[in-house]
Amino acid sequence: MAEQVGTNLTWHDGNVTREERQGCLQQKGATLWFTGLSGSGKSTVAVALEQVLVQRGHASYRLDGDNVRMGLNKNLGFSAEDRTENIRRIGEVCKLFADSGMITLSSFISPYVADRDAVRALHDEDGLDFIEVYVQVPLEVAEERDPKGLYKKARAGEIKGFTGIDDPYEEPSKAEIVLPTHELSVEESVLKLLEELESRGLLSS
Ligand code: ADX
Repeated sequence: MAEQVGTNLTWHDGNVTREERQGCLQQKGATLWFTGLSGSGKSTVAVALEQVLVQRGHASYRLDGDNVRMGLNKNLGFSAEDRTENIRRIGEVCKLFADSGMITLSSFISPYVADRDAVRALHDEDGLDFIEVYVQVPLEVAEERDPKGLYKKARAGEIKGFTGIDDPYEEPSKAEIVLPTHELSVEESVLKLLEELESRGLLSS
């Protein structure tokens, strides 16, 4: 848990409520948190879902591990501490996006249960929907896909501390949605997620 370091701070409320923002967008903000091994399909499913949502007139935005690590989190590596800080920061960003009314799709390996639970708690405290999506494939499948050639490098010892090889991935036990992407098509995964968003009433204000 990061400590509050700054002092003499006062929260400043605006004059617009979350409900008013949601009214403008005709939807409710929420975070869909995709977690899973590298190569599990997190980004693929998030990209497809974002496209369908936007085509249907919804405001949606993707936050993707590799992309965020090239900007906001460019000073973080892959030690346990840095992964925790990566998820803490992006969890706070997701909360802000969800509060703004955005259907936020975040794809990070996020290997530690405690870090994911902390992001969940952040949303719960603020009355925002947090939907954990476990993109679940056996390691062999992710390794077989190896879209970026990183498993090969990790097996060859060229990358140290690679998730699933010589670094841990703690499986979610209470994910709202599980997507076994070796058994589901991208379209089937997207459909499941749309059903969840609809059943929660998030696609109208
Ligand atoms: S997390 O563990 O901190 O959540 P994140 O999702 O941001 O990871 O970034 C994972 C991406 O970084 C992978 O998809 C891969 O492209 C790249 N990467 C580079 N080194 C590693 C590593 N040691 N472990 C996992 N992913 C790595």
